[in-house]
Amino acid sequence: MPATGKKTVEDIELQGSRVLMRVDFNVPTSVDSNGDVQISDDSRIQAALQTIEYLRDRGCRVMLCSHMGRPEGEVDPDLRLAPVRARLSELLGAEVVDARGPAGKVPMLVMEDMEPGDVGLLENLRFNKREEANDPGFARKLSTLGDVFVNDAFGTAHRAHASTVEIAEHMPAVAGLLMARELEMLGACLDSPNGPVVAVIGGAKVTDKIAVLTHLASKVDTVLVGGGMVAAFLAASGHMDANTDDLPEIEAARSLMKDSTARILIPTDVVTAAEFSESAEPTTTGATGISAGALVMDIGPETSATYANEIADAGTVIWNGPMGVFEWPAFAAGTTAVAQAIAVNEDCVSVVGGGSTAEAVGALGLRDRITHVSTGGGASLEFLEGKTLPGVAALLDDIELELESEPELDNELPEESEESDD
Ligand code: 3PG
Ligand code: MG
Repeated sequence: MPATGKKTVEDIELQGSRVLMRVDFNVPTSVDSNGDVQISDDSRIQAALQTIEYLRDRGCRVMLCSHMGRPEGEVDPDLRLAPVRARLSELLGAEVVDARGPAGKVPMLVMEDMEPGDVGLLENLRFNKREEANDPGFARKLSTLGDVFVNDAFGTAHRAHASTVEIAEHMPAVAGLLMARELEMLGACLDSPNGPVVAVIGGAKVTDKIAVLTHLASKVDTVLVGGGMVAAFLAASGHMDANTDDLPEIEAARSLMKDSTARILIPTDVVTAAEFSESAEPTTTGATGISAGALVMDIGPETSATYANEIADAGTVIWNGPMGVFEWPAFAAGTTAVAQAIAVNEDCVSVVGGGSTAEAVGALGLRDRITHVSTGGGASLEFLEGKTLPGVAALLDDIELELESEPELDNELPEESEESDD
């Protein structure tokens, strides 16, 4: 995987190794009427299967670890990984062992009992506060569970935590196949794309997306603006009265349009509503005729057609953020039009990032028509901002792997007390 510049599982000899593998199993869940936690979208579990199978095929013992939610160092029964373990067992057709922990003695005892090809899963890493503290003692403890560390958690690569960054100080650390594919696909669309490159950017606020918009505007040919940001862009272009609360947003939009080398297209028509509600009456109006106080809920049909034409001519499309409130049928047309335009352009490389955009593509049944749907929300955004992801930076560079030598341990650390398993 030369594009990543990082060692991957394919670059090292893994036969028969004990592998500690970080995954991002932070999947959306809901609690059903029996009080049981149900996984509402298992995409992130599915996405890790390829690397897990790759390691099993090589006789590895695989100890998986992940976080779920933000329990902040406390045990939260609703954030246990048991439902994830059950789903993963189903998908693998093999029981995934409950390795408990994440600290304490049990994980090591479980690892010692595992046979080649077996898979175990630690309990939620964030039940231990030392995970998010990027704590060396906790990372060292985790490192005793493997000879090699494989990071396939692209979705968590923007976090500098014990299991994503510090761990790499204690054992050889390489990218999994999902991590490598994410970096390769997202990287290629910015650095060596088929032109023309079109970025479709939606989302609620310009200020949330300003860093992405600024970086993309220097890299791509055309930016298509949608979502809740539209009002700020229309106000910045003098099409709509500025709401004084939104002045920073409007200023951000104005300077982007002034400084960008890319063409920035903003809607010529929109769908508005008087209130933010699913049952609100949708009104389609030209961009210059929006009534005072109306909320922009979607791009309009003329804009959808313009954007679809741009996408039809694109060699690469990067899409992050829905065009409107797609969860509500009256305001879903813009997002649907963009998704369909990408789906019918069979020659283009398309990369979709961000949880709600992936959800929209999935809901439309168009996932298979997208070249790459990223498992990263925040991570894919930070990547598109041009930031270095700490979890990626920590991995071995393509040139410097010496598996023969012992990983360096920090002997200065005090012996930690054994924690009980929860
Ligand atoms: C995500 O879903 O974006 C990742 O799993 C990271 O989760 P976090 O935002 O709670 O760190
Ligand atoms: Mg390589």
